[in-house]
Amino acid sequence: MANVTVIGAQWGDEGKGKLVDWLSNRADVVVRFQGGHNAGHTLVVGDQTYKLSLLPSGVVQGKLSVIGNGVAVDPWHLLSEIEKIAGQGIVITPDLLVLADNACLILPLHRDLDQAREAAATKKIGTTGRGIGPAYEDKVGRRAIRVADLEDREALVAKIDRLLAHHTPLRAGLGLPPADGDALLAELEAIAPKILAYAKPAWLTLDEVAKSGRRILFEGAQGALLDVDHGTYPYVTSSNTVAGQAAAGSGLGPRSAGFVLGIVKAYTTRVGEGPFPTELFDEVGQHLGTVGREFGTVTGRARRCGWFDAALVRQSVALSGIAGVALTKLDVLDGLQTLKICTGYRLDGRDIGYLPAGLKAQAALEPVYEEMDGWSESTQGARTWKDLPAAAVKYVRRVEELIGAPVVLLSTSPERDDTILMRDPFQD
Ligand code: GDP
Ligand code: IMO
Ligand code: MG
Repeated sequence: MANVTVIGAQWGDEGKGKLVDWLSNRADVVVRFQGGHNAGHTLVVGDQTYKLSLLPSGVVQGKLSVIGNGVAVDPWHLLSEIEKIAGQGIVITPDLLVLADNACLILPLHRDLDQAREAAATKKIGTTGRGIGPAYEDKVGRRAIRVADLEDREALVAKIDRLLAHHTPLRAGLGLPPADGDALLAELEAIAPKILAYAKPAWLTLDEVAKSGRRILFEGAQGALLDVDHGTYPYVTSSNTVAGQAAAGSGLGPRSAGFVLGIVKAYTTRVGEGPFPTELFDEVGQHLGTVGREFGTVTGRARRCGWFDAALVRQSVALSGIAGVALTKLDVLDGLQTLKICTGYRLDGRDIGYLPAGLKAQAALEPVYEEMDGWSESTQGARTWKDLPAAAVKYVRRVEELIGAPVVLLSTSPERDDTILMRDPFQD
């Protein structure tokens, strides 16, 4: 029985939360392995809508949920998210949630730095302003405070000193006053008992889960084109978002990733700055944004919208070893007379089938389109393949051909059960 690794195959917001929630029914454990509360995963179950940023989407189905070492954790946000979801009837206890004791913390000074840099920049990244980048910088710089440090006052004091020595000049350069180390220590000590209640060697929990043959569902955040190595750098997030990170970010070996399921939206969106070859500025773009309700879950920003870019997803299929995809939001294309799919690009008079690494080249790409007939029927809420109009089936088949991976799941509305299963990724 395979594990399943869910990752976004575009620029995020493909519908990962909906699919992870749906799949978690078939899993025993759900694991987040990168990113932080920059993620916004929306689950719609009956009349309830859950918006999760840090908690694995498995919590809604009562599955053991793990926040792995690869996640950057804002402890105050974690507590507020636990409180918020309790208000919706989902009670999180240490039996349900495991927080890796070696995960790094996002602190208020990281958020300050993220926001001050964005405010000062002439070329903004368009971050979520939640301190993600600066927190990962401190992790790699070996200055970070980790979950386990919360039970060690001596370590906390020394680490805060070290952090302030680094941050004070950075803050001064941006016109910010020095952070107050005593206040930070007091704030961390105040929340420490609540956070430590969930802290465990998550790798050990997962090792036991794996050895007992239970099934693990890895929940990616962001998308492959936001990966810090493989994405549209520097317009990316600060973690690895590709499937390979599931192992390093959880403490399990690379074989545990199992079936890699890429979540793919039937068109393309991006929130924040950076290249986007198939972006639309016309009424079709507006249609996608309005009908698809393309507003950021975390920041409320309008997402940029464009045609499906098969070249980009083909690249993600290769980068993450995607074995099959879940195609979402097909219903948003209902009623469009003609659909365009980008099959590759033109660059300086030549054909190119992938997104080159250079910034100048990325900005100069001209998409090459193939046109297909749209459909006037509604696919919204379709629950079987035979409910789909012939033109929609043709679109899905063409997507499969162009990206080089089969569509194993299809989503036709935000609602959990409006999902068509063609092949069970856990059975593969
Ligand atoms: P994630 O970050 O990948 O989890 O995606 P988000 O939750 O940020 O954004 C996806 C949005 O599309 C959410 O509002 C979902 O409720 C919604 N959604 C998911 N699947 C479908 C679908 O098949 N059709 C429609 N119309 N909406 C969907
Ligand atoms: P989910 O998991 C879409 C984008 C931001 C910005 C860039 C860097 O919901 O798909 P950061 O705050 O991470 O330093 O911002 O990455 N970004 C996302 N875009 N979906 C997300 O998460 C995102 N998380 C970060 O908009 O362009
Ligand atoms: Mg999202």
